Amino acid sequence: KYEKLWLKVGISSLVIFLTILMITGLHNGHTPAASGRDYVNPDKVDQIEPFNKPGLHKVSGKDYDYELVILASAFNYQPGKVEIPKGSKVKIIATSKDTLHGFSLPGTNVNMMLEPGHISEYYKTFNEKREYLIICNEYCGIGHADMKSMIKVV
Ligand code: CUA
Repeated sequence: KYEKLWLKVGISSLVIFLTILMITGLHNGHTPAASGRDYVNPDKVDQIEPFNKPGLHKVSGKDYDYELVILASAFNYQPGKVEIPKGSKVKIIATSKDTLHGFSLPGTNVNMMLEPGHISEYYKTFNEKREYLIICNEYCGIGHADMKSMIKVV
């Protein structure tokens, strides 16, 4: 009769285990990538908000004016060029689709590592009418030196 008992215990723990799997599965499926979670699947990142729409997006009701969504991959950034109205406070939200890349604006404090699977964020107010080069400062392969984008403050 002990065998029966152990069988019951075994089945119960299996049921509990499966239930936990189901709950976490559902939970992950319903959590948007960028809110409250800083992990995204790099293979699918270009289908997940906000990285399905790289570029500058006006926001309201926040203490900043725009979100600048950047998706890096070997060897470019999306978007390739962006115009930002002078005086805007911008939340830069960036990640990589493949390997480790950098995101740096030479001459400023902006210098981030973009890791596949992780979201990097930085707030910056653009008060000067000028152009900023975006460069990759992590060696990422043969196209590394040509990996650039540009911010133009207008
Ligand atoms: Cu991307 Cu170096």
